[in-house]
Amino acid sequence: VRGKKVALVTDSNVGDIVGVAAQAELVRGGLEVEGFTVEAGEASKSWTVAGELLEAFASVGLDRTDAIVALGGGVIGDLAGFCAAVYLRGIDFVQVPTTLLAQVDASIGGKTAVDLRAGKNLAGAFKQPKVVLADTEVLDGLPDGEWRSGLAEVAKGAIIDSEEFLAWLEDNASALVKRDPDVVTQAVARAAAFKADVVAADERESKERECLNLGHTLGHAIEKVAGYGAIPHGVAVAEGMRFAARMAVEFAGAEEKFVARQFALLDALELPQLDLELDPAALVEAMRSDKKARGGRIRLVLPVSPGTWATLPVDEETLLEKVRDHFA
Ligand SMILES: NC(=O)c1ccc[n+]([C@@H]2O[C@H](COP(=O)([O-])OP(=O)(O)OC[C@H]3O[C@@H](n4cnc5c(N)ncnc54)[C@H](O)[C@@H]3O)[C@@H](O)[C@H]2O)c1
Repeated sequence: VRGKKVALVTDSNVGDIVGVAAQAELVRGGLEVEGFTVEAGEASKSWTVAGELLEAFASVGLDRTDAIVALGGGVIGDLAGFCAAVYLRGIDFVQVPTTLLAQVDASIGGKTAVDLRAGKNLAGAFKQPKVVLADTEVLDGLPDGEWRSGLAEVAKGAIIDSEEFLAWLEDNASALVKRDPDVVTQAVARAAAFKADVVAADERESKERECLNLGHTLGHAIEKVAGYGAIPHGVAVAEGMRFAARMAVEFAGAEEKFVARQFALLDALELPQLDLELDPAALVEAMRSDKKARGGRIRLVLPVSPGTWATLPVDEETLLEKVRDHFA
C-alpha cells in the first residue's frame, strides 16, 4: 500500500469470524483501517451495494494512493474488486480470500463483477489484485456445501492440468474431504498455481482460459433450473464435469477409462451424481442463455486425457439428445 489508508471490505459472516483479527493486523502494520461490512450472500454482489460502497469510500476520503482489501469469499472479491476498478478510475486492491472456492479460483485472474437482474456477472471489469493472501486456517469453519464448491474447482484444475496433479488428487481425495491441514494447503497451492498459469497465458478469455469453463455450462444451467441454492454450486459443476467426460468419449476421442477415473475422483471428493429430475429442454435453454454461447452454438469444454482438452461447439438438437441420455 502506497498510502496510509485501507478500506477493508467484508461480509457479515466473515466479519464476525476474522474481521477483527484482520483489522488488528493492518493497524499493526501502521495502516489506518476503514471497515465496511455488507450482508453475506450473492445478493450483495449488486450495482446498488457497489454504489453504496463507492459513496462510503468517498465519504471517508479514500484517495488514489490508498487501497481496498477484499476479505471474504468470491462475492466480496468480485464486489470489492469491481469497486477498486472504478473508484477514482482504479485504485490498488488486495484479495484475502476466505472460502476454498475463492482461494483456488475466484481471487485469481482479475475478473470482477456485479450481477444484474438479467443474470450473474453481467457488469464487471478486469482488475488484477496487487497480491492475493490465502491463509488456509480461516477455512476451518467453512460449511460443507461451501467446501464442496471449492473441491469441484480443485478437481477441474487437476483434470485439465496434468496427470501429475490428477494422480496427486486421487491419492489425497479422502484427506481433502476430511480437511487434513497439510493436504488442504497443498491443494490450494496447486489449484491456485494452475489457475494463475492459465490466466497468465490468456488474461481476457479468448482461448486458453476457456478450459476453466469445464463443467460450468451445464453446471450453471442445473443451478438455474433446480432453483438457485437448491444444490451446492460444486455439486452442479461436478455433474457438468461428468457430462463433459462422457461427451468427450463420443466427440473428442477420450477413453472410457478416463471417464471412469473422473467419476471415481468426484465420488471420492463426495460430489455425488445428481438424482434430481430436471427437464432436459429447460437445461438446454438455460445453457443457451449462458453468456458463453457464441453465434447460436453452445460451446462445451471436453477433457480428452489428463492435461489435454478440446472445445466442442454443439447445436441444440444434439445437445438436447445428449443431456436426455445423460440424465436417463
Ligand atoms: N472472479 C472470478 O473469477 C470468480 C470465479 C468463480 C466464482 N466467482 C464468484 O464467486 C462467488 C462465489 O464465491 P463463494 O463460493 O466464495 O461465495 P461467498 O462469498 O458467498 O461465500 C460463501 C459463504 O461462506 C461464508 N464464508 C466466507 N468465508 C468464510 C469462512 N472463512 N468461514 C465460514 N464462512 C465463510 C460467506 O459469508 C458466505 O455465506 C460467486 O458470486 C461467483 O460468481 C468469481
